Amino acid sequence: MPKEPIWTPTSPNLVVHGDNLKVIRELPDESFQLIYIDPPFNTGKKQTRQNIKTVRSEEGNRVGYKGMTYETVKGKITSYDDSFEDFWEFLEPRLEEAWRLLKPSGTLYLHLDYREVHYAKVLLDVLFGRECFLNEIIWAYDYGARSKKRWPTKHDNILVYVKDPKGYYFNNREVDREPYMAPGLVTPEKVALGKLPTDVWWHTIVSPSGREKTGYPTQKPLGILRRIVQASSQRGDWVLDFFGGSGTTGEAALQLGRNFLLVDKNKPAFETMKNRLTRAAQVQSEVQDDVGEVQFAKFRQSPPRLVEA
Ligand SMILES: C[S@@+](CC[C@H](N)C(=O)[O-])C[C@H]1O[C@@H](n2cnc3c(N)ncnc32)[C@H](O)[C@@H]1O
Repeated sequence: MPKEPIWTPTSPNLVVHGDNLKVIRELPDESFQLIYIDPPFNTGKKQTRQNIKTVRSEEGNRVGYKGMTYETVKGKITSYDDSFEDFWEFLEPRLEEAWRLLKPSGTLYLHLDYREVHYAKVLLDVLFGRECFLNEIIWAYDYGARSKKRWPTKHDNILVYVKDPKGYYFNNREVDREPYMAPGLVTPEKVALGKLPTDVWWHTIVSPSGREKTGYPTQKPLGILRRIVQASSQRGDWVLDFFGGSGTTGEAALQLGRNFLLVDKNKPAFETMKNRLTRAAQVQSEVQDDVGEVQFAKFRQSPPRLVEA
């Protein structure tokens, strides 16, 4: 008997509790317009050295940066930083799946911080192709303690890669705008409209006492995800976030009429998403007729299937 697919483009919005690699390997090619991921840097993985450092692998099959194979580039880069090597070993197969899952018009947003972004940029240039790099978004915030020993680090980095540099979708005309920094220099009409964001986004973090807060420790602001969803997808498109956390991507997708598939292996994340997205779907259905159902399911292996959570 043919295996029942975990997800198809006609499925309802779905949140899956399970390891993301197992789940995304089951998904069909070229199904998602937008993939946003915000992976944890500390993956909890044991340091299992593969000693690929500085070895020129003849097996690396992708030739990229300066004509070197992907394996060589990876070996050179990861030799600088043990923790990044572990991180990349964890992330790499998931990024390969992300590339496979993107539609030809699709875009990947990879949310990182200053400690790993430079390595990841070079590796993604080889993995996706340098010509597929679209932007590095700087999300700047101003919160928390300030170091006196160096410039206080108050930004995250979001790398943006498209699958096809000649055929990707991007529309920044409908994104949430931001206030002008010098409103006195522009017309009142422009002040009222706000300005189109650049690649530097000033945005507060999720306020510890605000309504948006779910209590999930690494929750990202809805305003950041709304912009990403607005610019790189259209109503009815599918959005995938396989490091779902508190479900910010799902809430942005719900508000903007996109469909979503979220995955997280952590029970508290799954429970947070259940509460948050059930409530968000109710709120949204009061202002919009066609709000899709949201289903919550556990992933079971052999044979892979979903069971109701
Ligand atoms: C930085 S958080 C994401 C936060 C999210 N962007 C938000 O706004 O709430 C990373 C998430 O990845 C999840 N995670 C880590 N490894 C995973 C794996 N192998 N499979 C699925 N989820 C994983 C963690 O449980 C955590 O919730």
